[in-house]
Amino acid sequence: MHDFHYVAGDLYCEGVPIASLVKKFGTPLYVYSQRTLTGHFQKLDAALAPLDHLICYSVKANSNLAVLRALSNLGSGFDIVSEGELRRVIAAGGSPKKCAFAGVGKTEAEIEFALRRGIYSFNVESEPELERINRVAGRLKKAAPVAVRVNPNVAAGTHAKITTGTYENKFGIAFELVEDVYARASRLKNLRLRGLQMHIGSQLTEVKPFESAVRKVVPLAEKLAAKYPFEFFSIGGGLGIVYQPALASGGADWWQTPKAKDILTPAKYAATLVPLLKSLHLRILIEPGRFIAGNAGILVTRVEYVKRTGRKNFVIVDAAMNDLIRPAFYDSYHEIVPLRRRNGPIVASDVVGPICESGDYFAKNRPLPKVGEGECLALMSAGAYGFVMASNYNTRALAAEVLIHGNKSAVVRDRQSLPEIWKDEKLPAWLK
Ligand code: LLP
Repeated sequence: MHDFHYVAGDLYCEGVPIASLVKKFGTPLYVYSQRTLTGHFQKLDAALAPLDHLICYSVKANSNLAVLRALSNLGSGFDIVSEGELRRVIAAGGSPKKCAFAGVGKTEAEIEFALRRGIYSFNVESEPELERINRVAGRLKKAAPVAVRVNPNVAAGTHAKITTGTYENKFGIAFELVEDVYARASRLKNLRLRGLQMHIGSQLTEVKPFESAVRKVVPLAEKLAAKYPFEFFSIGGGLGIVYQPALASGGADWWQTPKAKDILTPAKYAATLVPLLKSLHLRILIEPGRFIAGNAGILVTRVEYVKRTGRKNFVIVDAAMNDLIRPAFYDSYHEIVPLRRRNGPIVASDVVGPICESGDYFAKNRPLPKVGEGECLALMSAGAYGFVMASNYNTRALAAEVLIHGNKSAVVRDRQSLPEIWKDEKLPAWLK
């Protein structure tokens, strides 16, 4: 599942002790395991081998250039949502020809840039967008490859803020309307109807919602493929990962050994979906982000203070919601383990950051080994939607990022310096 483990009581990433990284690079520090990252890609790739398929890694999950390069080296395509992400892919050596461009708000400039670079497909989310792409393509004398994103209206059973496939959401075109939309799109001269796309949500931990959506949409894809020169069907991303170990027994590596039945493995996912997709004879695209990057990264933080009030044990750390916003934003769970394993007493603790908001926490009433000032903790499963969602709130610098490869480590993003935070700000003439 991942390459973070204890060796003689010290937490390692692959062959490197995390404590040595803290010494060199300080905290808060994101640490990524290349082997975990590429291992996840390869497992999924192998599970989908019976299909003509392309994994389009969802860049939004972790867009560090080194991450993109490692995946591009394995032949990955990319799911992008902005010109910025496309430029990143190109900067990392990835191919625009393997990029699918999603998102409800693509601007004219973004569409033009993507068309000039020759992306694989626009995943279109509305009719006005189809018209806009057609217009821009006409101006550039190009045929724009498009796929409509169908909203299958199935409940994904995940967090409300990351559910996308129901009619309550802003995404895609309602299932019942899609055929008519293609009929109208086929009359727009500068579009090439290349496929169909869907995505129902993120962090799905069961195969059932995927299965329901695929069962619902495959007949539509078949029908459309008979009429238009379709090449692909994209089933989106959303494969969930294990954040919360099922065996919270306090055993040796309990955070690493969740019950097998709770994990949505690529094998389980493929065993259900491949038979449903095979008969389509289309190329199948899949857009995983979290599954590839989530458990490949941790956020390392140092304990600044331990504050005991009458009721609570607050462990105040040097990372905050600006570094990893998921607990504050989604109430999400991240496992927290000390860099140096200890067997002493377990204390129910609130792990909190220094930001001036009560929402700035990583865990509440979490049973944790007793830790003291200066010790370091790892927030697990922070490789996806971690650094990418960081901000400068409270004028805090963005953390550094390190990539591990066997016994080697490399800084893949320098810690931001404080003056960099306000370097683009200016005083107006009247205040000078
Ligand atoms: N494809 C589309 C069209 C998407 O909107 C997304 C994610 C993905 C693929 C990748 O989903 P994944 O495989 O990573 O689940 N910030 C939230 C997650 C937001 C997901 C947005 N869309 C979090 O931290 O949980």
